[in-house]
Amino acid sequence: MSQRELVLILDYGSQYTQLIARRVREQRVYCEIHPCTIAASGLEKVKALNPKAIILSGGPSSVYGEGAPQVDPALFELGIPILGICYGVQLFAHVGGGRVARAEAREYGAATVTIEKPEGIFHRFRAGESIDVWMSHGDRIEALPTGFRTIGQSGNTPFCAVGNPDKKIYGLQFHPEVAHTPRGAEIIGAFLFDVAHLTPSWTPGSFVEESIAAVAKQVGPDGHAICGLSGGVDSSVAALLCHRALGDRLTCIFVDNGLLRAGEFEQVQAMFRENFHIKLVAVDARREFLDALRGVTDPEKKRKAIGKIFIDVFEREAKKVAEGDGASFLVQGTLYPDVIESVSFKGPSAVIKSHHNVGGLPERMKLKLIEPLRELFKDEARAAGEVLGLPRSFIWRHPFPGPGLAIRCLGEVTDERLAILRKADTIFLDELRSSGQYDAVWQAFTTLLPVRSVGVMGDERTYDETCAVRAVTSSDGMTADWAKLPYDLLARVSTRIINEVKGINRVVYDISSKPPATIEWE
Ligand code: XMP
Repeated sequence: MSQRELVLILDYGSQYTQLIARRVREQRVYCEIHPCTIAASGLEKVKALNPKAIILSGGPSSVYGEGAPQVDPALFELGIPILGICYGVQLFAHVGGGRVARAEAREYGAATVTIEKPEGIFHRFRAGESIDVWMSHGDRIEALPTGFRTIGQSGNTPFCAVGNPDKKIYGLQFHPEVAHTPRGAEIIGAFLFDVAHLTPSWTPGSFVEESIAAVAKQVGPDGHAICGLSGGVDSSVAALLCHRALGDRLTCIFVDNGLLRAGEFEQVQAMFRENFHIKLVAVDARREFLDALRGVTDPEKKRKAIGKIFIDVFEREAKKVAEGDGASFLVQGTLYPDVIESVSFKGPSAVIKSHHNVGGLPERMKLKLIEPLRELFKDEARAAGEVLGLPRSFIWRHPFPGPGLAIRCLGEVTDERLAILRKADTIFLDELRSSGQYDAVWQAFTTLLPVRSVGVMGDERTYDETCAVRAVTSSDGMTADWAKLPYDLLARVSTRIINEVKGINRVVYDISSKPPATIEWE
């Protein structure tokens, strides 16, 4: 697949490792994160990856501590440009004959670094210039290995930025990858382009073309694949990409589980059929799902019941494709964060989380997985969707959970309560779109609470359920804050829901952040 140049990021356990990858990819250079153990002793795996540059991440250990991750000193003799960050720089100071020791004071937070030598990674700065940086370290370098010199220092950290220009090895005690180091991207850029002389050629277009070729090769000239569509951006982009590679040898299966939002089943089908002429099997399995959910109120039991029926339905339908021969490949929209999350920095346990709502299927049906997006972050998957012509409204759709409205219908999931929830949800999303706030939030939805309260409408007393409106801002869904939506918008949403949706007489706005709450209520 790869003519492309690879930057290898060795993960020593830093909470910021993914950010390093982001900063590299933003400069249109391809990179992969691998556990540091591949460079601990013996470098076969590193050499096989053929990286054009290597970045060593930070990490929580002390290089001299017991069981601390180590590095094969031969890594620094490969002639490959290297950038060490925090633990990364301490590591090569340590193995190269320098000295690392506990700093008198742990340094955490904002600091100022003065550029001493505007060379290498500081190529784009002036001598004497001061830059704001973010520090987070307990140890520091006290003596440099031979061949290295200081190129920048801070008040507390004399060897704050160091380099060995002959070997193209540089190190930073601070974190250029975090937003609190405003000019960090320039430093990483200088490493990539001025030190390692890479080309910024990793673009959504090049990714799409390479992936189409790779999928065609993986499946071969006669193979068939299936793809479970959820209507979300990940499975949509994965499907379009595989469609370009396989044409009618790809069959998409879209299941109406009765837990979709208003109009969703029709909209998703229309988008794929009209715009892309994709072979699509739409299955109405509403009764099966709702029967399985009857009387179930426990959130985990709901999820399990839905997962089981989903696999049953999908397996049944999948066997019918390719004139009854079935498919031998399953397309999934797994993204890079799911892949790295499941690889420990301590070792290549490499158990890839099978997180999707078709989890369990590959083993049961002996399907081989195609995961064309497994190298991409979400925004890169969106950019690939744009290249593939996915409409904007699909690219920027809010995430929607696999178990659908079941986990937004607290208490028992019934046809009647789902209908109430759908109406309320449509009103909220319509108002959000027409006020221009839809794209400003990560996710927005309503949840029906099994809480009845007294109200008065006209001259009539009501005793109905409560609807919680939730909108959050987030960058990845892992943490989130409640969105500060304008009061007049919230007022319109509340008035409309109470007036137009029979069965709801009270609307509340959820002002909990995650953590400690979660985004969904179940
Ligand atoms: P929580 O509620 O855990 O949700 O803060 C984080 C993000 O994940 C979505 N979510 C799910 N997605 N299957 C999914 O495919 C699930 O079971 C599931 N539960 C939560 C949620 O909508 C939010 O975007």
